[in-house]
Amino acid sequence: MVGSRAVHGNGQRDLFAALGGRRDAARPPRLDFGRPSMPGTPAASPDVVALGDSAALAAATPPATLAAIYIDPPFGTGAVRRGRGAAHAYDDHHDAEGDPEAFVAWLTPWLVASHEALAPTGSLFVHLDWRAVHYVKVALDRVFGRACFAGELVWCYAVGGKSRRGFGRKHDTILWYGRTAGWAFYPDQVRVARRGGSHMRVVLDDDGRPVQEKTDRKTGRVYRYPVDAGKVPEDWWTDIETLNHSDKERTGWPSQKPERLLERVLGAVTVPGDRVADWFAGSGTTAAVAQRTGRGFVVGDRAPAAIATCVARLAAQGRALAAAGAPPPAIDLLGAGVPDVITTDLLSPPPTAP
Ligand SMILES: C[S@@+](CC[C@H](N)C(=O)[O-])C[C@H]1O[C@@H](n2cnc3c(N)ncnc32)[C@H](O)[C@@H]1O
Repeated sequence: MVGSRAVHGNGQRDLFAALGGRRDAARPPRLDFGRPSMPGTPAASPDVVALGDSAALAAATPPATLAAIYIDPPFGTGAVRRGRGAAHAYDDHHDAEGDPEAFVAWLTPWLVASHEALAPTGSLFVHLDWRAVHYVKVALDRVFGRACFAGELVWCYAVGGKSRRGFGRKHDTILWYGRTAGWAFYPDQVRVARRGGSHMRVVLDDDGRPVQEKTDRKTGRVYRYPVDAGKVPEDWWTDIETLNHSDKERTGWPSQKPERLLERVLGAVTVPGDRVADWFAGSGTTAAVAQRTGRGFVVGDRAPAAIATCVARLAAQGRALAAAGAPPPAIDLLGAGVPDVITTDLLSPPPTAP
């Protein structure tokens, strides 16, 4: 049901209390996802948006329950990252400023908690840039094991600085690890159109369908790829641009990632009914894509303005989905200050169907 119940804060004082725990408890309190009614079916429980240091949220997520986790942590530039308006800003620092080793030490509790929270076929994606990616790769090898390294995804974009002393830095790196070496992968969910102009010529097959064709010079074997079936993308992505100022998707939150990026990441490793998480939610891109594509989600951010942006985005999309006859699950809002970030327009019921 979507309505005034669709998004509700529980008014708890802090995230630990909201999770039903005590700070000194030997075992951290856990979120309750309930039990799936049948093996292979998702448990019917609300999605979660939490305000506060998300290390507590990650540690409170029950073991082996998540199909995917995407994180886009602050890079530790020490600068205040500003978006649209005074409220849309976060302090891109941690105790480890400018020191990649210390950055890794800061991030490690989230990596360890992610490892525990992932299902055996689940995957973690860590979105980084040149500053810390090589250090975090080594830490992930230690936490997940080198055999569980599934790939390094290179997201290329046109914006970014030019340099007189080197090549322009125009890509981010997303490190992908499986919880086990048996991570799930759904290639048919992420196919893209085959482009002309490749080294392969296009011919018609016996049924008159266009196929790209190439012949292996050594073996003479001929390979044919139907053009209309598309292809699984390579591990470098040039077809997803950063959001520009006039994009409808823009919320004003700095460093907001495009939904298409998350569609590809989540589409590669999850199916509808799976549950995903993002411990550095920002404007809520992961949650928005999960909600729209039928995945459950747990997301958190320590900035009240980020949570307000995320909740507004989910509430607006939730109303649109409900109006189209596909209401999303209710959302539980947890954490200190949550009532302050909810405004009445977020809680207003959806328009009634004519
Ligand atoms: C790069 S932004 C994430 C942007 C997001 N991917 C999006 O598409 O909008 C990083 C976020 O991490 C949050 N953050 C930093 N430290 C945190 C912490 N300890 N716990 C929770 N969130 C944190 C910041 O408030 C910021 O919103």
